[in-house]
Amino acid sequence: MDAERNGGPAPVLRASGIVKQFGAVRALDGVDIEVRPREVVALIGDNGAGKSTLVNVLTGVFRPDDGQMMFDGRPVSFASPQAARTAGIETVYQDLAIAPHLDPVANIFLGREYRTPGPLGGLGFLDRRRMVRETERQLAQLKVRIPGLGRRMTTLSGGQRQGVAVARAVMWASKVVFMDEPTAALGVAQTGQVLQLVRQVRDTGIPVVFISHNMPHVFEVADRIVVLRLGRVVRELDPRTATIDEAVLAMTGSLASGRVGLGDGAMANAGSGAAEGRGARG
Ligand SMILES: Nc1ncnc2c1ncn2[C@@H]1O[C@H](COP(=O)(O)OP(=O)(O)OP(=O)(O)O)[C@@H](O)[C@H]1O
Ligand SMILES: [Mg+2]
Repeated sequence: MDAERNGGPAPVLRASGIVKQFGAVRALDGVDIEVRPREVVALIGDNGAGKSTLVNVLTGVFRPDDGQMMFDGRPVSFASPQAARTAGIETVYQDLAIAPHLDPVANIFLGREYRTPGPLGGLGFLDRRRMVRETERQLAQLKVRIPGLGRRMTTLSGGQRQGVAVARAVMWASKVVFMDEPTAALGVAQTGQVLQLVRQVRDTGIPVVFISHNMPHVFEVADRIVVLRLGRVVRELDPRTATIDEAVLAMTGSLASGRVGLGDGAMANAGSGAAEGRGARG
């Protein structure tokens, strides 16, 4: 991976040696990853590979057991997801962490509410109408239709909730966006819009870390593919030259078709030590 560093822009985010242990399970076993301006990094891996754990560590949900993180050229350690958000990092969490008892407008503006202009605003009055207007606009762009923006999130469909989470992330991010399976619950049109939005965000210079099990989507949207396996980064792929078979092989150690071919030696290298590196060793 290091060979790829060819004098491009400095990384916005760089994590090295990240370790996260849950009891006997070593979910992250020394992960190095960087995210540079104006790129979509797809993070792929099988179920349980550690993708969500990595997102959670990088965005202040979990404290790592070991490792360093540099953000904007300085060492950081986010004490909470709120601290990461304040720093400009927005995240669509796989479990769609939202405030379930609030409505979509309140969720999108949580902690960033617009106040009414003038003295009433000073007294804490909120400009609900303006927030509704902007929410409507963002959701329309995503082709997400929500009948009644005053409804609690718990009464919305999974796809509608996902739309709200994506809208919130792209609306506020100023440095990095993480999206953990942002299209898992979405229909075809909405998925297309999210992929489009990922590219738009990237084109404004803000990098996107995109997690998906959908290889065609990954290859469509990514500038770089990082493969996580058993808590380690085992490969980096260039979507312009790599194939889906290669990606699947790197993720699982075998081809989807059951064919074992080119990659045996490669995987022996790539996965070296990974299998022993985790599991019931505690
Ligand atoms: N809060 C937790 N407590 C204990 N173990 C956890 C916790 N979160 C994750 N793990 C374990 O850590 C490992 C990595 O999980 P993680 O959720 O990061 O995988 P993932 O790559 O996101 O998988 P998926 O594709 O299924 O979302 C798994 O073995 C999982 O069981
Ligand atoms: Mg996950």
